[in-house]
Amino acid sequence: MRKIFVTGGAGFIGSAFVRQVLEEQPDVEIVDYDALTYAGNLENLAGLDPARHSFIKGDICDRPAVLEAMPEGCDAVFNFAAESHVDRSIHSADEFLRTNIIGTQVLLDAARAKGVRRFVQVSTDEVMGSLPEDDSAFFTEASPHKPNSPYAASKAAAEFVVRAARETFGVDAVITRCGNNYGPRQFPEKLIPLMIANAMNDEPLPVYGDGQNVRDWIFVDDHCRAIWLAYEKGRSGEAYNIGARNERRNLEVVRSILAALGKPESLIRYVDDRLGHDRRYAIDPIKAETELGWRPQVTWEEGLAATIDWYRENQAWVEHIRNGEYREYYRQMYGAALG
Ligand code: NAD
Ligand code: DAU
Repeated sequence: MRKIFVTGGAGFIGSAFVRQVLEEQPDVEIVDYDALTYAGNLENLAGLDPARHSFIKGDICDRPAVLEAMPEGCDAVFNFAAESHVDRSIHSADEFLRTNIIGTQVLLDAARAKGVRRFVQVSTDEVMGSLPEDDSAFFTEASPHKPNSPYAASKAAAEFVVRAARETFGVDAVITRCGNNYGPRQFPEKLIPLMIANAMNDEPLPVYGDGQNVRDWIFVDDHCRAIWLAYEKGRSGEAYNIGARNERRNLEVVRSILAALGKPESLIRYVDDRLGHDRRYAIDPIKAETELGWRPQVTWEEGLAATIDWYRENQAWVEHIRNGEYREYYRQMYGAALG
């Protein structure tokens, strides 16, 4: 059996990755290490095989705890753990710098101490900043780092500490940079699950600015497959951009959700724009396609329908979140604008 160490495995993408690996890689055992912040949710891990999946609650910045949790003979570390929401980073950046940068350094040090074969850093297209609108420009692996939000800056810095570990100590490391994920179990602070949850409850849908910002959407399982292939086939020291060639304006996304749920567009409320709001993300995935043999398998139409169905069928999951700390976050974030 191959052992892997997954951080942030109780979050949205980490839990999808853990599920997919358990299903598709029968020779793999997973140690899942997660601090269970507001975004970590043990409900995301319900029903997994305890013989192949063990969960440890811990902070990636806690060096002794990481060293104790990372198993001997571990083949790879997959670092999903992060503070991930741009709006929260605008409100307060401290936790983003701590978890996303210091935490990554602690994991790299531990991986070196334990002789881990490969380190996979799950990064984001946001490290490359914003593209002009109505332009044929795309993010490639040669695009410069130009992060615009505190979140993006912390993820860019994390990429640099990964690079430094490789250059200085020869740590075998690959970086994946994906665009906007959507799918089941995404925390309802992000655009798609927030809009689905609000629409289902006939509550207003807050659209920032003019709603014309463009994001390049990918179904979460397609992202997870790319991360696995980067681990198996990626070249050490390389970054791989992951995208499904699926650019959509925010307003189009919101309207599609309303239509699928049979709700009126009068629920849309235009609210103040996000500070420093990146206008357009668009990924050229040709390197991942040619070097990793990766292709997305889920179309936007299929993925969005499956996501909406999941939220419809799992209203208890959403309500557990909406009844907790989320209330206060929502009040602070949207209270003044939505009344
Ligand atoms: P998420 O916020 O849903 O989950 C993050 C997880 O990390 C949570 O389970 C949380 O408890 C855990 N965590 C946070 N701080 C921790 C700490 N100090 N120690 C241990 N665990 C900690 O995030 P997500 O959307 O699943 O994103 C996962 C990763 O993918 C992040 O690194 C993010 O930057 C990256 N990414 C996300 C997207 C996206 O669209 N969501 C796109 C590209 C890359
Ligand atoms: O591109 C990858 C990134 O995608 C990841 O690295 C981040 O972790 C992830 O959060 C996501 O960042 P975005 O800022 O693009 O995602 P978010 O869902 O917050 O917003 C998507 C778009 O929708 C963005 O243009 C802002 C807009 N938006 C968002 C919210 C929450 C609204 O108009 N209204 C909202 O209430």
